[in-house]
Amino acid sequence: MSQIETLGAEQTHSQRESRLDVEKIRKEFPILRQRPHGKPLVYLDNAATTQKPQSVIDAVASYYSEANSNIHRGVHYLSEKATNIYESARKRAQRFVNAPDSREIIFVRGTTEAINLVCSSYGGTHIGEGDEVIISHMEHHSNIVPWQMLCQRTGAILRVIPINEEGELRMDEFAKLLGPRTKFVSVVHVSNSLGTINPVKQIVEMAHAQGVPVLVDGAQSTPHMKIDVQDLGCDFYTCSGHKVFGPTGIGFLYGKSEHLDVMPPYHGGGDMIKYVSFDKTVYNELPYKFEAGTPNISGVAGLAAAFDFIDDIGHAAIEAHELELLRYGAEKIGAIDGLRLIGTAQHKASVISFVMDDIHSHDIGTFVDHEGVAIRVGHHCTQPVMQHFGVPATSRASFAFYNTRSEIDTLINALHKVIDIFRG
Ligand code: ALA
Repeated sequence: MSQIETLGAEQTHSQRESRLDVEKIRKEFPILRQRPHGKPLVYLDNAATTQKPQSVIDAVASYYSEANSNIHRGVHYLSEKATNIYESARKRAQRFVNAPDSREIIFVRGTTEAINLVCSSYGGTHIGEGDEVIISHMEHHSNIVPWQMLCQRTGAILRVIPINEEGELRMDEFAKLLGPRTKFVSVVHVSNSLGTINPVKQIVEMAHAQGVPVLVDGAQSTPHMKIDVQDLGCDFYTCSGHKVFGPTGIGFLYGKSEHLDVMPPYHGGGDMIKYVSFDKTVYNELPYKFEAGTPNISGVAGLAAAFDFIDDIGHAAIEAHELELLRYGAEKIGAIDGLRLIGTAQHKASVISFVMDDIHSHDIGTFVDHEGVAIRVGHHCTQPVMQHFGVPATSRASFAFYNTRSEIDTLINALHKVIDIFRG
């Protein structure tokens, strides 16, 4: 799998060859025409959520205007139409991450629900008192809290891979943490607050050498790079639709069928059963066993359209463009007097976090918003990362393929205005 590298890295031949027509792409995103506070919108908060192309908006709308019905249970025309949309999207998601079998794709609300499902179902049956679960210091709260809750329930122990001052995993420490008590490893592929791309393939190989399964949190990787779960070898992989230009409230969990087949259901209800009586319930097969109740069908329709949109642009072109934005942004933003970049890993996705010791991040965020620039400020649901760097919060600019160098210039000009005000 290719990785986005920071300043100084060489672009490959194929990356140089594949250029995006960004202006054409931007026309597909109606929201980018907005003018907040009378200024052109500069949307640099893509790690929080991405904007939606017209094709995704149309897929959701046309589901409701042309196919709305409940799936799987109906014999009528609309129900079959809705079921086809839903099950074709499962195959579309399978192709998006190169999963071997569409039965291994479970639709969920997003990465948070996917991790909770694995934690509760796999963890609840395979992890007990004295067992150890390894996560890392750069996890999003959604990959910390569910494991803490499991440990509280079972008496298992949470172990944490430390990070260095660049915001990279200490792989030497991971090797030391892996031991006979380790029962599960759950790590993020791309850090939402630092941008670090973790060596997840190596993590999987090391864990598997000890017979330990691995979940990879793909919420922040899927918008930026081609994912191949067979190449990674991971046991579980998660995706949040709204981070990949799809709707909110939909995502998927990929899991190897050898695990999913024997894991108990997460939620009970309709559609996840084959047979119910008061004496006994027989659960449905994969993937339905994990999809109780009427799902987010319109969301699934939008998600499939988002995958089409990304694949039409092509990952090589996306990665080359975002690498250029990252290099440009890191150099220019990093050169601002009194500004410190937080997260300077060798392998990074297009996320730039920074602090200015004399200006609070919330003041920075509020001021640049008045210039039309949307960035995120705060702890980004990664409070342990903030604790590691000794800061309460950072300002974060995160880029997608529709962003441009000139938008980064607008952010930099806005930052200089903030500095002029605060430093006089
Ligand atoms: N996890 C999202 C972020 O990084 C909300 O902003």
